[in-house]
Amino acid sequence: MSIGDEHDIEALRRIGAIVASALEHMRREARPGMTTRELDLLGEAFLMRHGARSAPKLTYNFPGTTCISVNHEVAHGIPGERVLREGDLVNIDVSAEKDGYFGDTGASFVLCASRPNLERLLQATREARDAGIAAARHGARLSDIGKAVEKVARKHGYVVIRNLGSHGVGRALHEEPKHIPNHFDPSERRILSKGMVITIEPFLTTGPDTAKDAGDGWTLQLPRSHRGAQFEHTIVITEDAPLVMTQVDEALLA
Ligand code: CO
Ligand code: CO
Repeated sequence: MSIGDEHDIEALRRIGAIVASALEHMRREARPGMTTRELDLLGEAFLMRHGARSAPKLTYNFPGTTCISVNHEVAHGIPGERVLREGDLVNIDVSAEKDGYFGDTGASFVLCASRPNLERLLQATREARDAGIAAARHGARLSDIGKAVEKVARKHGYVVIRNLGSHGVGRALHEEPKHIPNHFDPSERRILSKGMVITIEPFLTTGPDTAKDAGDGWTLQLPRSHRGAQFEHTIVITEDAPLVMTQVDEALLA
């Protein structure tokens, strides 16, 4: 969507705060021994308490409220009987709708342990996301986002997944532009304009540039020996630094 008025911004900030806080809540409560379904139910209860509905469930009939991907899984993991273990690399992606507006956020983390190699990957991915956000301005090319992301990935010795993009969001979970490459694509000539609402969500890996279908119809994964991470924000394009909608803000949760 493109922002029409101040009301649009307020509504996006509200749903943005809800998904960001749901993600934070799930991260804090995640424990070794818990199943991914139990973790998902915490997210479901949180969204319900704040009058929001799971966007993937609403839009795609996803069999869960949030996407939880573990270790070599990178995206769209289905919450289920899998038991989380200390040291697992976990990605939680929370997207939801309230009053017709959608927010989308995600983060990876290591469960209750210190894993220096994974911490480096997480740090680089967060930095890549922030570089992508900094490049997203009125008048810039969509390809400037991937260019900035890829530069950070290369600097740290990681690879960007090419078949998972960032995307337009706001009045639906996935809107035009539907695929914003997180790598540099010189053929991508579309221009960003102020008011556009998009996500920035690069996936960095220890080698592969493609996430493959795990065979359950949803989960996307890497070969078992590899790891990938993602960090995601929903932003609004301006002539200056973008506005980040998906921020933890207690005042907006009422
Ligand atoms: Co997401
Ligand atoms: Co997204």
